[in-house]
Amino acid sequence: MIDSDGAPAERVLAEIRELRALDRPTHGGRLFAYVYDPAVPGLDELAAAAHAGSAHVNGLDPTAFPSLLAMENALVGAAARLLGGGPGTTAAEVVGSVTSGGTESLILAVKAARDARPELAAPRIVVPASGHAAFAKAAHLLGVTLDTVPVDPKTLRPAAADVAAAIRPETVLVACSAPSYAHGVIDPVAEIAAAAAAAGVRCHVDACFGGWTLPYLRRLGVPVPPFDFAVDGVTSISVDLHKYAYAPKGVSVLLHRDPALRAPQYFAYADWPGYTMVNPVLASTRSGGPIAAAYATLRHLGDAGYLRLAAATRDAVTALADAVRGVDGLRLMAEPESTVVCFTATDLELDLFVLVDELTARGWHTQPQLRYADLPPSVHLTVTASVAPRVAEFGPDLTAAVAAARAAGPVRLPAELRALATALTPRALTPELVAGLAAGLGLDGGQGVPERMALVNTLLDAAPPALRERLLVEFVSLLQRPSW
Ligand SMILES: Cc1ncc(COP(=O)(O)O)c(C=O)c1O
Repeated sequence: MIDSDGAPAERVLAEIRELRALDRPTHGGRLFAYVYDPAVPGLDELAAAAHAGSAHVNGLDPTAFPSLLAMENALVGAAARLLGGGPGTTAAEVVGSVTSGGTESLILAVKAARDARPELAAPRIVVPASGHAAFAKAAHLLGVTLDTVPVDPKTLRPAAADVAAAIRPETVLVACSAPSYAHGVIDPVAEIAAAAAAAGVRCHVDACFGGWTLPYLRRLGVPVPPFDFAVDGVTSISVDLHKYAYAPKGVSVLLHRDPALRAPQYFAYADWPGYTMVNPVLASTRSGGPIAAAYATLRHLGDAGYLRLAAATRDAVTALADAVRGVDGLRLMAEPESTVVCFTATDLELDLFVLVDELTARGWHTQPQLRYADLPPSVHLTVTASVAPRVAEFGPDLTAAVAAARAAGPVRLPAELRALATALTPRALTPELVAGLAAGLGLDGGQGVPERMALVNTLLDAAPPALRERLLVEFVSLLQRPSW
């Protein structure tokens, strides 16, 4: 791979182009997860130029690279203004940090809450079951216990009273989502924040997904309930710029209502012979590339640009939801209130995992979601502005994909696989068993990932969460092998 005298630039780029051709399409409005595409001509080129210009700048020391500090402060200011903070508001003292993504923002919100209560030997956080998995990761990494509050299978929201009841003397943080990733519904933020405040506990609003669109949707007349710093008791909010602010990957903002709330987020260390380290975020050395790219994106799109993109996204959501309503055998999990369309099947003869494969075969990449507690399996669509021009093509393809999935019939798991998924404990899963299973499912990395995933999804769907986790770790680690 590393040639003795190096490869010419053109050849290297050709290699990367060839690899990129294997990927799902990041642009074109047919991939409903992972990517956020506004389809604005010239924006990619602008962001790439800004990224390149600051890629070697190091966020480790803001005094050495004031350009990065200035751009970070501008991003935090823009996010704060959008989310009910800044001069002239009741949250005039909002401060924040730029992180690498939503997961890091949530980990830091939990860290700040934990470290604000050093007297607690066994801190806990309260998170609705619909909260993002990153809260579980934060709890795991930080040694904090996760108390999960169930969501109502009809509204897909937690009851504020259940959240209040879950708060204990050791609770350091209560979380809620605006909106949740899986179903795109907004939690009862005002009631949850009030319950947290009454108990003297911090309340984090995870607006990683929707924080940049909800304010614009509200301006367009969509009824968006209060979810930001205008709500008493909300102490921190996260919003990802690499989602609906349409910046390239690697940028989220974590906001705190005031500097005292942010203080325990920092890590500083002077007890070694090198430079004194002070980090607001998890990474120490940080590239300026993503920050500069986000700065360029925000400056270029501007308030009017985001409003226009939110309108296009809203129209696309309405059209996609109508398409789902128009198909016999499908039902929306929730009436769309943000930028997610999520649906499930109403009869057992329509297998959603087969449907997902049929949609993929027609060029639409959707995201299957496995059954969880009382919730059935579902199909998730993250809708971005780039979907708007393609939306009329979706309905006919959905109808055809449903007809094909019905004709194919549901996946029948072979008896030995069903037994494995339902009876095996994660501990009993040996490397040999996993290797055999992966080879049988075409997941051993030899040919890449199989085009049809319905069998794999059905197997995972039949397994309890702990076994799903183990199986996925084993499968992914089979894929992650060095190429020599
Ligand atoms: C609501 C919410 N929170 C947190 C995250 C995690 O963000 P990231 O993937 O940037 O770490 C996501 C990602 O989809 C999300 O939707």
